[in-house]
This record gives sequence, structure tokens and C-alpha cells, in this order.
Amino acid sequence: MKRRNFVRLVAAGCTLPFNSTGMDLKDEVLKRKIPSSGELLPSIGLGTWQSFDVGPNENDREPLRAVLDTMIQYGGTVVDSSPMYGRSEGVVGEISDQMSVNAKLFAATKVWTTGKKAGISQMDRSIELMRKKPIDLMQIHNMQDWQTHIETLRDWKEEGKVRYIGITHYVESAFSKMEQIMKDHPLDFIQLNYSMSSRKAEESILPLALEKGIAVLINRPYGGGSLFRSVKNQDIPEWAMEFGAESWGQFFLKYLLSNPAVTCVIPGTAKPHHMLDNMKAGFGRLPNEREKQKMIKLLYK
Ligand SMILES: NC(=O)c1ccc[n+]([C@@H]2O[C@H](COP(=O)([O-])OP(=O)(O)OC[C@H]3O[C@@H](n4cnc5c(N)ncnc54)[C@H](OP(=O)(O)O)[C@@H]3O)[C@@H](O)[C@H]2O)c1
Repeated sequence: MKRRNFVRLVAAGCTLPFNSTGMDLKDEVLKRKIPSSGELLPSIGLGTWQSFDVGPNENDREPLRAVLDTMIQYGGTVVDSSPMYGRSEGVVGEISDQMSVNAKLFAATKVWTTGKKAGISQMDRSIELMRKKPIDLMQIHNMQDWQTHIETLRDWKEEGKVRYIGITHYVESAFSKMEQIMKDHPLDFIQLNYSMSSRKAEESILPLALEKGIAVLINRPYGGGSLFRSVKNQDIPEWAMEFGAESWGQFFLKYLLSNPAVTCVIPGTAKPHHMLDNMKAGFGRLPNEREKQKMIKLLYK
């Protein structure tokens, strides 16, 4: 199917013909448990940094509706945003409302400011913008003023204003501080950077998350897109088909999902065909340890 027609179809809310994408409707996207509740979460989600920061122009909005629709049709629910991402929270809220899918989403956003009062008013605004009450996950963006916000979040969780609470960062140098907070405070989620090109998370923070029963969202799973540039003009090896990876995107994501501490990866995209590609990584088997070594060797001989 031509991409333009595909976008129109999904934007119009038509059911995807799964057999045209080579997938079996009976299969379900891989889900992982949120340890603090036992709730199952689809392992592939969507990041909205830059990609969802658009105005009201239909040319910008139409592909984003198709992105959301594709994710949902393939069993995805997790959408991650932040007040740091310009208009993204509002765009997620508006288009999911128009599509009547807000209730299906697992809406995650963040607090990114200093001070209790400022935090409360920013989080109230985010909940309004994302049109999801209670909001599913509120995270402290880059752990900014975390000592203040964590108290508000604990209260809000008790009051039922948020379902889950967490902290985020996007650089490996922040892991030791994150680990300390994970040891000292009850958290439902952490969100951190992990990709085939940045694998420090494997050393201690992911094992700690498993041990403490904390769910993990993975940001920058493609290293911000740099992984694709590193394999430019290179074919994906045939042996990757043995674990069902048909594209480099699926190759990169399946590597991450094979780590049992990873609950959900949240690649950012504004393109429906990339969303489809990302969702496909959540189907079929995952690489085993031997295959993972081979994957690393292929990229970093
Ligand atoms: N501190 C924090 O809390 C923090 C920091 C960073 C990120 N995040 C979150 O994590 C999300 C993901 O991180 P990111 O967006 O920075 O980096 P990323 O997901 O590693 O990479 C995004 C890039 O990959 C491309 N892409 C996506 N799917 C693709 C596919 N299947 N094939 C080829 N290219 C593909 C996108 O381009 P196209 O648009 O062309 O698809 C985009 O250029 C963010 O959107 C945000 O929600 C949080």
C-alpha cells in the first residue's frame, strides 16, 4: 500500500488490514507487568518530544492522528510527553479526544519546574492539556527539584490524581543519582536512556529496577536517531529474521526488550510507517543472549 493511502486510511479510522503488513491479528503485542500493581503494559509506546510540537495545521495533525491510530491498532497505549515539549501535551490531548481514544491511552507526562506551587500548577495544566483524569503517570523530568515534587506526587497518588509516579533522565551520568533515589523512595517507574549504542543501563540501574520492583520506560531507544545513521546503506543481516527483526528499527528495539527489566520503549516519531515498524518489534520472539552478543559484534566489531 502506498504510504499516502495508508496514512489516509488510518487517519480516517479504518482498521488496518493486518495481513497486508505480514502480521497475524491473533498475535498480541508483548506486554510487561508494572511491578507495583501487576497491571500489564504494552512494551512499545510513543515519545512526543519535537514530533508532536505542532500547531493546528491539518497537514501536521493528520500524520500524528495516523501515528496514534497505528499504535492503538497494534495494541500500544503508552504516550510520553512533558511541558518541556512545547505544544505536545495539548496535541496529544486534542487529537486523542477527537479520535475518542483518550481512555485507551496510558498517558505519561512530567513536572519540569522548581518549587511546590509552580510544580502543582504545572502538573494541573498538564492533566488538563492531556485530557486524562487521573493521569496515568507523572514523572519528575530530569529529577529537577525532585525532593519537592516527590512529596506532592506521593500525596496526589494517595488522592487518586495520578495512578503512578516516577523520575526521568536522559544521560548516563545521572544514573548514580537515580539509583540513590530508587533506593530511598518508593517509585512506580523510572525513565532512562538505553540503546544499543548506550548500554551502561545494563550494568546496575536495570538490575536495581528489577530488584526494587520498579517499572522502566526507555527513552532515546534509537540514540535520538543516530543508530539509523550508523547503519546507513547497510542491509539488516539475514540471521535477524530468526528472531523476527525485519528492519533496523525492530533490530534495535528487540535488543532492548530482551532485557527483562525493560517495561516499555518509547521511540519518538511523527511518521505512521515508523510507528508501524516500531510496533512490529513487540511481536514474535526476542533475541537470546548468544544472538545479542552477535548483534553487538555486528555493530561494534
Ligand atoms: N529527560 C527525559 O525525560 C527525556 C529525554 C529524552 C527523551 N525523552 C522521551 O523519549 C522519547 C524518545 O526519545 P527521542 O525521540 O529523543 O529519540 P529516539 O526515539 O531514540 O529517536 C527518535 C528518532 O528516530 C526516528 N525514528 C523513530 N522510529 C523510526 C523507525 N522505525 N525507523 C527509522 N527512524 C525512526 C525519528 O524520526 P521520525 O520522526 O522521522 O520517525 C527520530 O528522528 C522522546 O520523544 C521523549 O518522549 C525523555
